[in-house]
Amino acid sequence: MTYAVNDQCIKCKYTDCVDVCPVDCFYEGENMLVIHPDECIDCGVCEPECPADAIKPDSDIADKWIKLNAEYAVQWPNISRKKAAPADADEWKGKPNKFDLFSPNPGGK
Ligand code: SF4
Ligand code: F3S
Repeated sequence: MTYAVNDQCIKCKYTDCVDVCPVDCFYEGENMLVIHPDECIDCGVCEPECPADAIKPDSDIADKWIKLNAEYAVQWPNISRKKAAPADADEWKGKPNKFDLFSPNPGGK
């Protein structure tokens, strides 16, 4: 089992999750973060820290997000310290279909 980030992180990026992860296994794209599935130790401490409810165990998240986390975790830079959320993060919190509106990483890679 591992944990993964879903589309609720898109445009929110509160980064509370990275501060609590004991193994620093979050990776940052322009619009969202992902978890490296081979580095996550399944401790679960990040799940309740996310204000957007974007982190789930793989037993409770669509395959699409598990694959997306695995794909981008090996392409994006590591992030291990909390930083300021985007100014409009609260406006996007809980919005549906964010993946259809925004790429996780508009710059490409
Ligand atoms: Fe990090 Fe634990 Fe969350 Fe995995 S479950 S990403 S190890 S805090
Ligand atoms: Fe994203 Fe939640 Fe972390 S919004 S950056 S998964 S705290």
